[in-house]
Amino acid sequence: MTRRLLTGLLPLIALFLTAGIAHAQTPRTGTLMREKLAHSQKILEALTTSNQMLLSSESEALQRIAESPQWTADLRTPELRSYADRFIKAAADLAAAAKRRDFDAAAAQYNTMTTACYQCHKRLKDTRIATLR
Ligand code: HEC
Repeated sequence: MTRRLLTGLLPLIALFLTAGIAHAQTPRTGTLMREKLAHSQKILEALTTSNQMLLSSESEALQRIAESPQWTADLRTPELRSYADRFIKAAADLAAAAKRRDFDAAAAQYNTMTTACYQCHKRLKDTRIATLR
């Protein structure tokens, strides 16, 4: 009986344990993240085809998302804040390089920015794995 009760409770316990990080994902964040992915793919296209117009418009769009309060509000948790800041800075530097038509700098910033995407996601994943242990 105790055993059955415990088995029934386990999913609930797991839910409580993960609740701390689950707040980072909202439907709004999900949509914005999809948009970010699409813009960053377009930026790679612009860089590889030397398309300055596309590079400018896409990096500005990405910067707007990076700096939009909707996105940052959801990620302004103490553990994600520094990751968000790094991403926001890289997006701003990328947009600035695009504006100056500096493709070399833009390519370097693109690298920094995608590393920032990756690092925040890796941190999320590690936190989840640690929480479930
Ligand atoms: C500061 C942290 C942070 C940064 C930086 C970040 N993300 Fe995310 N991303 C998140 C969080 C939080 C979620 C929600 C994850 C979850 O709950 O699984 C997410 C989810 C996603 C998703 C899945 C969306 C869905 O359909 O649910 C994609 C795709 C994504 N991010 C792409 C990107 C790309 C591309 C970049 C960089 C251009 C980026 N992210 C930068 C935190 C970040």
